[in-house]
Amino acid sequence: MSDKERFEELFNKHLIKDITEENIDIVLTGQYGKALELLRDAESTGLFPALVGPPGVGKTILCRYFASLRAKENKNKSFYWLTMDESIKPSHFIGSFDPAITLKKGFTLEAFNSGPLLSAMLEGGTFLANEINRATEYSQNTLLEPLEEASIGIPHLGRIKADDDFFFISAMNPEELSGTHRLSEALKDRIKVWIKLTYPEKATELDIIRINLPEHFFVEESELELIYSIINETRRNKIDIEIPASIRAGIAMAKLLARKRSLEKSGQLKEKKSVYEYLSDISRNVLLGSIKPKPGVKAENIIENIIHKTLGA
Ligand SMILES: Nc1ncnc2c1ncn2[C@@H]1O[C@H](COP(=O)(O)OP(=O)(O)O)[C@@H](O)[C@H]1O
Ligand SMILES: [Mg+2]
Repeated sequence: MSDKERFEELFNKHLIKDITEENIDIVLTGQYGKALELLRDAESTGLFPALVGPPGVGKTILCRYFASLRAKENKNKSFYWLTMDESIKPSHFIGSFDPAITLKKGFTLEAFNSGPLLSAMLEGGTFLANEINRATEYSQNTLLEPLEEASIGIPHLGRIKADDDFFFISAMNPEELSGTHRLSEALKDRIKVWIKLTYPEKATELDIIRINLPEHFFVEESELELIYSIINETRRNKIDIEIPASIRAGIAMAKLLARKRSLEKSGQLKEKKSVYEYLSDISRNVLLGSIKPKPGVKAENIIENIIHKTLGA
């Protein structure tokens, strides 16, 4: 088999043909159930919503789940998403002309490759503009027409009207976090349902960690509680920490601890350690890049303090 054939075989094997084929393990208690209901309310009233929250609180998974529900209800409605930053140009979401074909055939439909926003508009799918407030004002302004009129102008080709089922969701980190641009006032005025997500309540976050652990991975309830207390401590220390540990950090810690436990069980570990020792090591490895300290504060020092406070010396 040639490399090319091998590539094609693998590609087709792994291709996700439709969002309904994706199995999304989501916890819908607490804020997530309410947020989903708000997304539904927005959809059925023709309003476009925004999800606002720090990294790793579940904005993307909620949108994917919502899009999969819509797809299941009215068949083959696609889900597209694009994470924006200063380098994103309107052509990245609208689409662009293939230079080689354009040279031969001119600015024709044949030479045009659709971008994710245009595809969602044509197919009546869901489009998620992730980190929309990081896009430049110029790019943000291109989104005004799709939001306001459900239409969009494509250079050289004309103006299209979106399918009635087209739905546009924005997601962003709260504006006060550094490194993000502001959402333009014009765009803000066109988004009329603001859905805030924060770090979930303890019971919900523990459920999320559990649901994200592979089946054969096991951690005791008391160990999960310890992991939560470490993660939660990063969120309480607002003096030293600018961005605390997200849900992802807790999931990672639980996975690493579960692996130690399973190695122990199968007798593959030379020396057994206490859960406190395991979690101290795991905290150091996971938290180092999972928290963003305030300027002048060292992550290592914060982590040692948290370990001391939650796990003891
Ligand atoms: N309600 C939830 N149910 C299950 N997993 C969740 C939930 N919320 C967050 N997660 C998990 O937490 C991680 C971060 O979620 P994500 O949606 O990527 O956050 P964000 O888009 O806000 O950065 C992912 O691994 C996701 O699977
Ligand atoms: Mg995300």
